[in-house]
Amino acid sequence: MSEQPPVLIVGAGALGKLWAARLSGSNPQFLYRPQHSAGMTRYQRLDLAGHSHHHAIPGSPTLELGCPPTAVLVTTKAMDARSALEPLINVLPPTVPVVLFQNGMGSQQAIASRWPDHPILAASTTEGANCPDRNTLVQAGRGETWLGGLTEAGKAIAASMAARLHTDDSPVHHAPDILYRLWQKLAVNAGINPYTAILACRNGDILQAPLFQGTIQPLCQEVSALMTAEGYPGDPTELEARIRQVATATANNLSSMRQDVMAERATEIDFINGFIVTQSIHHGLPVPVNQMLVAQVKQLTHQ
Ligand code: PAF
Repeated sequence: MSEQPPVLIVGAGALGKLWAARLSGSNPQFLYRPQHSAGMTRYQRLDLAGHSHHHAIPGSPTLELGCPPTAVLVTTKAMDARSALEPLINVLPPTVPVVLFQNGMGSQQAIASRWPDHPILAASTTEGANCPDRNTLVQAGRGETWLGGLTEAGKAIAASMAARLHTDDSPVHHAPDILYRLWQKLAVNAGINPYTAILACRNGDILQAPLFQGTIQPLCQEVSALMTAEGYPGDPTELEARIRQVATATANNLSSMRQDVMAERATEIDFINGFIVTQSIHHGLPVPVNQMLVAQVKQLTHQ
């Protein structure tokens, strides 16, 4: 392995492979699950123009302590992020930035409060990529990423971290209030992902479905009431317009939740509509639509 200190990527799924490709000049390395043996992850990346690029990224199930990483990017599913970090973070030098890329909310806050002295940051991205098979990464759309600190140490380095990860092709912006960005993305995911899972359809198809048409307004009112209670602006009409706009713009996409159901994997429902339910109950706000969506999605995957 190279002498240059690595950027460690925890989670070798589509997002992890995308960042590994992007950071190919910064010695990216994967941290695998404990049962995985050390070795190269080889894959072909099809870029937006359909051109093929080949990548071979080294990885190991253990951290090479002789050469600590310059940063850790966590690109696992929300439910795996904390347990993936648990064995790692206590052996990391406490100055190494940890950037969380999870969907939804809840996992990021849990990690920041578990390790408040580490520079923990969260990212919200609109990058689209998927893996039709283990050896292929397809870039589905040009996107942008916003990044901000969750802990004090994270806030102190957020602007320089954003600049470090930025490229003209894939902009990375510093977002001093990253939680607001996460709320906005959460609202969109809450209004698209469970419908695509329950209706077994692509993002655009939800717009014509009676389930969506009959519940999207009260769903946006529930999300708006919660955002207001948490101190963030969230007008229900604007939230609905944004959900419709993203569903239209990504009409042919299979949402991440739909893909999880198709692959019989656990979904991130607890970190999307489930997070809205838990937080709303905490504020004494009723959330019947979100509760119904959580229950129906859980039935699909027996979660
Ligand atoms: O989770 C997803 O799939 C995406 O965030 C979105 C915006 C719903 C598009 O597919």
